[in-house]
Amino acid sequence: MNKKACAFYDERDCKQILLSAEEIDRITTRLARAIEETYKDSDRRLVMVVILKGSMPFAADLMKRLALPLELEFMKVSSYGAGTKTSGEIKISLDLKRDDLQDIDLLVVEDIVDSGRTLFRLTQLLKNRNAHSVRTCTLLDKPSRREVDFVPDFCGATIPDEFVIGYGLDYDEKYRNLPFVGVLKPEIYS
Ligand code: IMP
Ligand code: MG
Repeated sequence: MNKKACAFYDERDCKQILLSAEEIDRITTRLARAIEETYKDSDRRLVMVVILKGSMPFAADLMKRLALPLELEFMKVSSYGAGTKTSGEIKISLDLKRDDLQDIDLLVVEDIVDSGRTLFRLTQLLKNRNAHSVRTCTLLDKPSRREVDFVPDFCGATIPDEFVIGYGLDYDEKYRNLPFVGVLKPEIYS
């Protein structure tokens, strides 16, 4: 395959485009307004915690639309390997290094909520560390897959139970650079 012939050569592995770049743009703008409304009267520091790697493009677009003083931190949390099924436990391979948690509002930004285990456990952990507040913002949610009682505070779009790729989301580390969200053809992972 000539990778240079088409910038988005991976597009052929998509069964369907779920969110176009234009739709993602509208979603992030709407989420930014809702987040501003929530924090506008707070006099605490607002810290966006970007969950690597998947939420990087989403967080980057979202933060540019937020007309609020904002600080940026990163965590790397994983519950998935190369497969498409959750493994249950979460592993923190890059932790948040702040010693002022009790004084700050944390906004955890995630690409997708599936079983809900990752954000359920992560928000529990950050609350146990006495963060002043912990809220979550996800681009995508698959509520039909939920295994624990978790509801994100801000959600871009709910989607059916299908494995999606693009705009940060990967299958086996590929497809993160697609500018849209698409459904991966099942024959790629089965
Ligand atoms: P949860 O802990 O089951 O909610 O899993 C959340 C994590 O699983 C996300 O941060 C993604 O890394 C991964 N994940 C879940 N569904 C998908 C998908 O459809 N495509 C790509 N990654 C996914
Ligand atoms: Mg992820």
